[in-house]
Amino acid sequence: MDLKNKVVVVTGGGNGIGKALCEKFASLGAKVAVVDLECDAAQQVAESCKGLGLVADVGVEADIQSVVRDTEAQLGPIDIFISNAGVSFSDAPGWMAASASNEAWQKSWDVNVMAHVYAARAVIPGMIKRGGGYLVNVASGASLLCQIGDTAYSTTKTAALGFAESLAITHGDDNIKVSVVCPLYVATRMTEGGRGVSGTDRVMTAEDAAKSVLEGLEAGTFLIMPHDDLATYAQRKGADYDRWIMGMRRMRKGLVEQYPNYDYQR
Ligand SMILES: NC(=O)c1ccc[n+]([C@@H]2O[C@H](COP(=O)([O-])OP(=O)(O)OC[C@H]3O[C@@H](n4cnc5c(N)ncnc54)[C@H](O)[C@@H]3O)[C@@H](O)[C@H]2O)c1
Repeated sequence: MDLKNKVVVVTGGGNGIGKALCEKFASLGAKVAVVDLECDAAQQVAESCKGLGLVADVGVEADIQSVVRDTEAQLGPIDIFISNAGVSFSDAPGWMAASASNEAWQKSWDVNVMAHVYAARAVIPGMIKRGGGYLVNVASGASLLCQIGDTAYSTTKTAALGFAESLAITHGDDNIKVSVVCPLYVATRMTEGGRGVSGTDRVMTAEDAAKSVLEGLEAGTFLIMPHDDLATYAQRKGADYDRWIMGMRRMRKGLVEQYPNYDYQR
């Protein structure tokens, strides 16, 4: 894939996986728009990538529309839009499936799902006119397997996968490519400290996750799984759902025993 002078938007580009993606795309000659809620983070990454830093809340449709307008005015028509920004809260206090506040649930829907909808709505018509484009939505291993200890995250990341499937099916014939990225654990601010819900094995660096995304885009893979073992787990789940639920219950029990006072709130 020739990325020279391609215009790439990365949301949540100020930190973690988004930052690594911005750096990777810039190193391959792309013109990168670094979008983040945090102004300083967006500007710093934009500076190091010689790109454009934009402040936006991706959960607000007008902000996404401004991102698209500003990027196209300053860098040119968008070739690749990466909806990477995401939020996680937790089932705290008390490890109860519905214990997160309504605000946490709403924020999860807005950022983890609706931001992808707003981006698609804003860029697809232009991409169709230009003959094609690429939408990359960062979901999670939780889209396929459930994140123990964060029901809102698991629910919305599963919805994000569903939206990406619809996008790929609906717009494949418009030459709109779609990939959905489903990492397990990546060492970023989101997972720092373990928080009782993060297994400590299989943690990869944000740079390795970004490398895997690039490889997936090169291959045009719909479901990009940076961790090899995710596919195996997902297949086992599909083959015997009841057995999988039993296994997850056992894992959750172990975590609750290990972290009885789990009360993390982001
Ligand atoms: N870290 C992991 O283990 C992991 C695993 C699977 C999926 N993911 C997903 O990868 C993506 C990136 O996560 P990360 O681990 O790099 O997290 P991170 O917290 O390190 O970075 C997320 C970035 O998104 C920005 N952001 C948050 N809300 C925003 C909003 N409303 N508008 C604009 N920007 C916003 C933050 O300011 C931050 O810079 C997320 O969608 C996350 O759910 C992460």
